[in-house]
Amino acid sequence: MKHLTSLLDLTPDELHAVLAKARELKTAMKKGERPQLFPGRVLAQLFEKPSLRTRNSFEAAMIHLGGSGIFLTTAEAGLNGRESLPDVAKVLSSFSDIITMRTFSQKLIEDVAKYSSCPVINGLSDERHPCQALTDLLTIQEVRGDLKGLHLVFVGDGNNVSMSLAFATAMTGMKMTLAAPKGFEFSGEFMTLLNERFPKHQVSVSSDPAKAVASADFVYTDVWASMGQEDDAERRKKAFAGFQVNEQLMAHAPKTACFMHDLPAKRGLEVTDGVMDGSQSIVFAQAENRMHLAKGLFVWLLSQKS
Ligand code: CP
Ligand code: NVA
Repeated sequence: MKHLTSLLDLTPDELHAVLAKARELKTAMKKGERPQLFPGRVLAQLFEKPSLRTRNSFEAAMIHLGGSGIFLTTAEAGLNGRESLPDVAKVLSSFSDIITMRTFSQKLIEDVAKYSSCPVINGLSDERHPCQALTDLLTIQEVRGDLKGLHLVFVGDGNNVSMSLAFATAMTGMKMTLAAPKGFEFSGEFMTLLNERFPKHQVSVSSDPAKAVASADFVYTDVWASMGQEDDAERRKKAFAGFQVNEQLMAHAPKTACFMHDLPAKRGLEVTDGVMDGSQSIVFAQAENRMHLAKGLFVWLLSQKS
């Protein structure tokens, strides 16, 4: 049995197989087909942070495929001390075919996966957002075809989204630059892991967004303060002041470059309305693709033998 707690749970070939399945199911859906692959299957969603895209795209995907979803907070599930974690994981997985989780702690997802009798998918933790990164690869493929050699420039925080994108680009032969203010780059611990797992990765860090985007195929940003960092938002706002993706910054990028954002966006902070709604923006294609990717992932995970 396979889980997706992080992209490191997949080999590059497996990652491409998930993307291929997602593409196939998206094409079918666009033709009006909703193959009933999972009648009676249950998706359990265990969340401790809010979500528009992740929660609802997962649930819509399962419904389209013939199954249904149940939703509970981690507190309601008893993970606040009501019951032991192994007991919660064993019981919930005995009712379910897939469990998705959104948590602060990455370890919590990995611990549930350890005791679960069904696949567990990370729907975002403080450290990882693998389904977003997979979706972004799907979206980039739709725009440019082959991923190899494409340059993604992430202007913003060395956070869950950019760390997962670093894995995603390293696994697919893409280049990535993180343009971040001092103190918000990838941690030394993360770079060590990236170097160990992908010695040939082409991920670098810059403090000059204009220079970084000059060779970008994709310019990506995310919020400056992630969920759980609300108290640090003012400090971050000051630190990231020169890192807004606005029309001036996009003018330094090739005209063919696309703008990406995982959403939700704080319009007027990390990105301007002009860029979000401009002709280079593919943010709503990314958002829709969350659902197509979820289908590809569900089908791929449930077809793996234990
Ligand atoms: N991009 C993303 O994960 O959005 P939600 O927080 O709305 O799920
Ligand atoms: N980095 C953001 C991503 C939201 C989808 C957060 O963790 O809040």
